[in-house]
Amino acid sequence: MNANEKPAIGVIGVGWVGLVTAGCFAQLGHPVFAVDVDERKVDALRAGGELPIHEPGLPELIERNRGRLRFTTEIDDVLDAARLLFCCVDTPPTYSGDADLSRVESVIAALPDGGGHALVMKSTVPAGTGTAIRRRRPGLAYVSCPEFLKEGSAVEDFLHPDRVVIGADPGSEAAGDAVADVYEPLGGTQVRTDVASAEMIKLASNAFLATKISFINEIANVCEEVGADVSEVAGGMGLDDRIGPKFLRAGIGWGGSCFGKDTIALKKLAGNTGYHFQLLSAVIDVNELQKRRVVGKLKQHLGSLAGRRIALLGLAFKPDTDDMRDAASLVLAARLQGEGAEVRAYDPIAEQRARELLPDVEISDSPASALEGADAAILVTEWPEFAELDWEESARRMANPLLVDGRNFLDPARLRAAGFTYEGIGRPADGGAAAEA
Ligand code: UGA
Repeated sequence: MNANEKPAIGVIGVGWVGLVTAGCFAQLGHPVFAVDVDERKVDALRAGGELPIHEPGLPELIERNRGRLRFTTEIDDVLDAARLLFCCVDTPPTYSGDADLSRVESVIAALPDGGGHALVMKSTVPAGTGTAIRRRRPGLAYVSCPEFLKEGSAVEDFLHPDRVVIGADPGSEAAGDAVADVYEPLGGTQVRTDVASAEMIKLASNAFLATKISFINEIANVCEEVGADVSEVAGGMGLDDRIGPKFLRAGIGWGGSCFGKDTIALKKLAGNTGYHFQLLSAVIDVNELQKRRVVGKLKQHLGSLAGRRIALLGLAFKPDTDDMRDAASLVLAARLQGEGAEVRAYDPIAEQRARELLPDVEISDSPASALEGADAAILVTEWPEFAELDWEESARRMANPLLVDGRNFLDPARLRAAGFTYEGIGRPADGGAAAEA
């Protein structure tokens, strides 16, 4: 390695986090060796075809830095080339709600002692995992470096972090310094701490954001009772800089692979120590109920939903991703079908995943065909293209122009002028103060 060359980095697991991490470190000038057990995925990445995930800016980033990126199925290729090994394998929830660490375990089993390697844990693991690994493998340096990327803006978030959390215990300080050096060009506050605290920062951050959303969703439900508008309320609250304006958008609840998982994991983790984390139990319950309340809104207008045709606009758990893990759409589709409704859906990107996950839902290739003859529509994901829809024409297509805007994304006055009965979440209903204004 000459003086200007940056040290090689290993990335283990090229799922969503791993691929973004690999691409961004390559962009910073590091040779990156990325390994995955999935041969087909590795072949596809080598061949330069379509990426396995939809993430804005990622295909370009990978292409631009192809010269510094190696994809392999052989962990030895990585171990030979790199000392810092970023572990990015997934840790899905088990039936008990605890995190499944089997993939992390197989990574650890593959690493030699005494090779000068440091394992940098990016995968979300329960607090205490790092300490347990260090106890078993004292010869392996260990750093906790949780990731705070948001799907849909992961590349931007990685390259412009608010903060970089680096947890290292005695004996792994040099590895902690090496990770700090790698992140240094990106800026953002570096938080140097111990491993258990770093693990907790990750879980507590996601649980806090989930709490913020469940809180505003409960406020929205009260707003509906008193005729207030939750968007006005959130706007007014957010101006207090102790509260802040972000993550106060009321809607049909949070989804995605991480929020629910991390919130449940933190609750379980506390429970395992004998502590009953009551607040998080409520946060999770509120989120479950929030998705189901939409069905109640439809019933208020339509009576029984049996035989009714309902259109879902958007299926992904949020815009700019095709990820449907823990998406509100899954619960909604099942509940509507449980009520006897016929469900049609449209999503600009998640179409393929939707066909696998919702085999009984008719997936349309345009909003127009999803809305054709529908008795009601629910806006589930705030894709920008829905703001541009011709709502007058959409109202004419539907058997009954009723729209529940699950993200408070559309302008109620515009929808009402187009002939819709419009219901938001925590917004005054038709005939309420706002409608008369
Ligand atoms: C979340 C965190 O924001 C990231 O910091 C973290 O790294 C990531 O989980 C993770 O642990 O991997 P992400 O799952 O991509 O990121 O999604 P968010 O943008 O946080 O949104 C989560 C859900 O909350 C979405 O369903 C969104 O629609 C919903 N949401 C968000 C609201 O209902 N209201 C809001 O005001 C904000």
